[in-house]
Amino acid sequence: MASRMAHKVMQARKGTPEGSGLLVIDNPNEMITVAGNNRKPRRGESLQDIGIMKEAALVIKNGIISEVGPRKEVLASVDTDNAIIIDAAGKTVMPGFVDPHTHLVFAGSRENELRWKIEGASYIDIASKGGGILSTVNATREASSDELLALASNRLDIMMRHGTTSIEVKSGYGLNVEAEMMILEVARALSEEHKADVSTTFLGAHAIPPEFKDHPEGYVDQVIDRMIPRVADEELADFCDVFCEEGFFDVEQSRAILEEGKTYGLVPKLHADELSDVGGANLAAEVGAISADHLEKSSDGGIGQMAEANVVGVLLPGTSFSTNIGYADARRMIDLGLPVALATDFNPNCWTKSMQFMISLACYKMRMFPAEAVVASTINAAHATGRARDVGSLETGKQGDIIILDIENHEQIPYRFASNHVDMVIKRGEIVHTRV
Ligand code: NIG
Ligand code: FE
Repeated sequence: MASRMAHKVMQARKGTPEGSGLLVIDNPNEMITVAGNNRKPRRGESLQDIGIMKEAALVIKNGIISEVGPRKEVLASVDTDNAIIIDAAGKTVMPGFVDPHTHLVFAGSRENELRWKIEGASYIDIASKGGGILSTVNATREASSDELLALASNRLDIMMRHGTTSIEVKSGYGLNVEAEMMILEVARALSEEHKADVSTTFLGAHAIPPEFKDHPEGYVDQVIDRMIPRVADEELADFCDVFCEEGFFDVEQSRAILEEGKTYGLVPKLHADELSDVGGANLAAEVGAISADHLEKSSDGGIGQMAEANVVGVLLPGTSFSTNIGYADARRMIDLGLPVALATDFNPNCWTKSMQFMISLACYKMRMFPAEAVVASTINAAHATGRARDVGSLETGKQGDIIILDIENHEQIPYRFASNHVDMVIKRGEIVHTRV
């Protein structure tokens, strides 16, 4: 595994701009720049400010956005004979989606659980019937790293065709030292070989593995004493996450794991208050997490503390859709001042690769306005993964990560739901997908 990956790293090293020369995107019906004060995650009114330009053009030079502005001025300033010019008339141009919460690396599939859900089983009921996370852990432990890499890479290809150009990937289906390391190595390999930007999160504390069923504290010790140091030593993750929930990891255990991660430079994230209000939002604020995700059952108090501590709330409406747990009340959270982002939570319990569908659910089910959902799936999602300096808006100096949608305006993204509107995907100035 290690040598194969080293080889791949050499073949496709990131950091060098992959797009060369000039690429011009001309005259979309809406150029959604999401430009403005993007140093901090957007909240309140600024969530609705998506910087729409009409009669605009954008230039990417060597993978980086070099100009965006009125088309007459922009076109006059470039050597159009030496540029690829994309006519976007009638279409919508926007930053590539950032998906800040996924569990991309696993084997197996759990469509058998759908019947149980239809019959009324809860997430916990399904876990106690032998389904849920632990059934995916069994399938994942049996897979080779090459198999896992092929599965994850194929999933990421499909996500990219749906407009996702940056993604966060968590471990959490290994639950022992070797398997957790393997999953993170797969995620890192993906980051080297795939066109998409991939950030990685260590989620060893996703569930108590069967070996520790009768002494869960032993597993918490293993996460703290053996896994975190290795993850940090081998530079396999940027973030440390915990599934803080009744029957999984309580607040005290979660705090201990996240604090230990911090001492190794792993930035905290949290699966918080998904099935019950256990105080996850409060904990995220206390430990200074970059994001707390789910929040379906969080109290106003917890949301208020997150807002004060500048923790991004990553909302996962796909999970509510697939798990019958009710939706997070995004409108209320926005009113409480929370900076919100959206993510797919792609995992075997929530098998969606489409940020466009998340935007539809956010609007129809969580009372977000279309413009807010656009900000939540671009610049705020970039903030949730520490990438806002490079991606998430169309501004000079940022990566040329752009999607062209075959719709007239951003409101049609949620409104024309459950379709893929992506015509073209441009990553670092390179056209990586064109719809035929
Ligand atoms: O974010 N809630 C915990 N983890 C995942 C689900 C994992 C699974 O069911 O396999 C989530 O929804
Ligand atoms: Fe998750």
